[in-house]
Amino acid sequence: IKKIYILAIESSCDDTSAAVLCNTKVLSNVVATQEIHKKYGGVVPELASRAHQQNIVPVVHQALAEANIDKKQLSAIAFTRGPGLMGSLLVGASFAKSLSLGLSIPLIEVNHMEAHILAHFIDDEGMTAPTFPFLGMTISGGHTQIVRVNNYFDMKVLGETLDDAVGEAFDKSAKLIGLPYPGGPLVDKNAQLGNPRAFDFPKPKVEGLNFSFSGLKTSILYFVQRETKKNPDFVAENITDICASVQFTILEILMDKLKLAVKQTGIEQVAIGGGVAANSGIRARLKDAEETLGWKTYIPKFQYCTDNAAMIGIVGYLKFQEKQFTDQRVGAKARYAI
Ligand code: KG4
Ligand code: ZN
Repeated sequence: IKKIYILAIESSCDDTSAAVLCNTKVLSNVVATQEIHKKYGGVVPELASRAHQQNIVPVVHQALAEANIDKKQLSAIAFTRGPGLMGSLLVGASFAKSLSLGLSIPLIEVNHMEAHILAHFIDDEGMTAPTFPFLGMTISGGHTQIVRVNNYFDMKVLGETLDDAVGEAFDKSAKLIGLPYPGGPLVDKNAQLGNPRAFDFPKPKVEGLNFSFSGLKTSILYFVQRETKKNPDFVAENITDICASVQFTILEILMDKLKLAVKQTGIEQVAIGGGVAANSGIRARLKDAEETLGWKTYIPKFQYCTDNAAMIGIVGYLKFQEKQFTDQRVGAKARYAI
């Protein structure tokens, strides 16, 4: 079997990442996380693109070095064309284009949302690839989407968020109770020590498989304001119960929609990805669904859930085999549907 070496670049949001794959195996997957956004409590686009410019060359060098590959051995360059922040995408796109031109090797454009789903096809210890058709659910700070995956490049979005992404719901709720950005992991940690039924938050009424999370944020805001008026130490005294209840509500929303998607499609294979897939509660719920509902569920390793270039690389490899190349006229695309 022929060895294809793909260099992949991801720069759609606030992580600069480069990976080298040999066929479906990951030889390196370097991620430079931008700490600068922490003090602003969210990603600042202008600062993100500037940090990508500083990081991209060292990150690519490190990826090649860790893979023990000379750039002359590369078969193609894959990059994230979109969706994402325009300024951030442009850094990765321009870099990938120049390098492919310089090395005279093919250029492959990748849709970031497809990559989150196709990350399941990375060949790594402990990971099994789902078989077609399956349902993909991408849950992160930027996206919330349920997709029917008929084949590698035959996907249909069945539902997505109408406002905030689920990771944003975690982060904004966390902010309201004084936890630092990004609050998702801290809500998860506290939730493990609290009572999920301590407080009731309303679930949004959204038809079909779409999501809405902005109402939850508002109801938590009012709840915290009301309770602190009565007891200024309310949040500090109840932090674990608040986190457990917030997380419970979010998980209920996600699981309700997944169950509906399974019911509507008859597909009982569910593969999730995105940063929120790290949540211990969602992992437990999916495991439970295997036992009680007979689903088959898939969660990639954490490093392939959060934004990373290895997932861009696996799409690069799949497209390479189909000779789905692009030319130098390709531009970045901030809004880019599956
Ligand atoms: O995929 P990702 O790294 O970046 C985006 O594409 O957005 O996802 C980051 C998001 C953040 O909102 C973060 O709070 C959330 O994933 N997150 C979690 C957990 N770990 C990360 N949310 C809940 N529980 C976690 N354990
Ligand atoms: Zn992402």
